[in-house]
Amino acid sequence: MGSAAVHGANAELRGGAFPPVERAILRDGSVVHVRPIEPGDKPLLRAAFDRLGAESRYRRFLHPVKQLSERELAYFTEVDHYDHEAVLTVGPHGTEPVGVARYIRLADPKAAEVAIAVVDDWHGRGVGTLLLHKLVERARRAGIRRFRATCLADNDEVIDLLRRLGRARLDHPDPGVVELTIELPARPLPIDELRAALRAAAAGEVEVQPPRTEEQ
Ligand SMILES: CC(C)(COP(=O)(O)OP(=O)(O)OC[C@H]1O[C@@H](n2cnc3c(N)ncnc32)[C@H](O)[C@@H]1OP(=O)(O)O)[C@@H](O)C(=O)NCCC(=O)NCCS
Repeated sequence: MGSAAVHGANAELRGGAFPPVERAILRDGSVVHVRPIEPGDKPLLRAAFDRLGAESRYRRFLHPVKQLSERELAYFTEVDHYDHEAVLTVGPHGTEPVGVARYIRLADPKAAEVAIAVVDDWHGRGVGTLLLHKLVERARRAGIRRFRATCLADNDEVIDLLRRLGRARLDHPDPGVVELTIELPARPLPIDELRAALRAAAAGEVEVQPPRTEEQ
């Protein structure tokens, strides 16, 4: 898993219709919680956006964005968890926004556009890897087999991150932009990530336990 391993994975249902929350320990020891986004997360999402630096915002949206409108906040948080899913990472107290990854199904029902952003202070700790891992699990359950992502051609961080998910094709639709098409692995934990996680575990950096899902 490269940077993060789902640890303890004490997936706990918050009762009734509430989505599962999973606890993860990043490679630097920080604890985060991962869960699907909810309509009540608008303030958290706004706070996450405010903590993205200008460069990160540009890389996420491919154009300069100063703030999210109410309409965008509604669109990004009021998702149906099937055609549109977003997975949120928050700090240990549930109030600090850390990152979000989402997919939106395309006209081809087996394909979805994927996007991800991690607040700048949390870059390089494994949050992006963790979020994409959880998103792939949910996408597979929703019948999605391919992710497409459009990103700046020099965005090596996200291109590397996405290419770890599965077999990837790289197209260049416009100068300075790449479009990635990634075939999602059938297994929830891609073997490359597993190897990396095991290497990290052997080096004593992380503990690796199989993630539990709400089906268990
Ligand atoms: C791309 C992004 C989501 C990565 O998130 P992250 O939490 O930093 O990712 P991870 O910590 O899981 O890092 C995964 C890999 O990315 C690369 N990476 C991450 N941060 C890096 C940095 N600051 N410098 C160099 N490489 C970096 C590394 O190859 C890392 O591999 P490693 O695990 O072997 O170290 C984050 O940089 C971001 O939010 N960027 C702005 C928004 C954006 O570009 N979105 C993409 C549009 S789809």
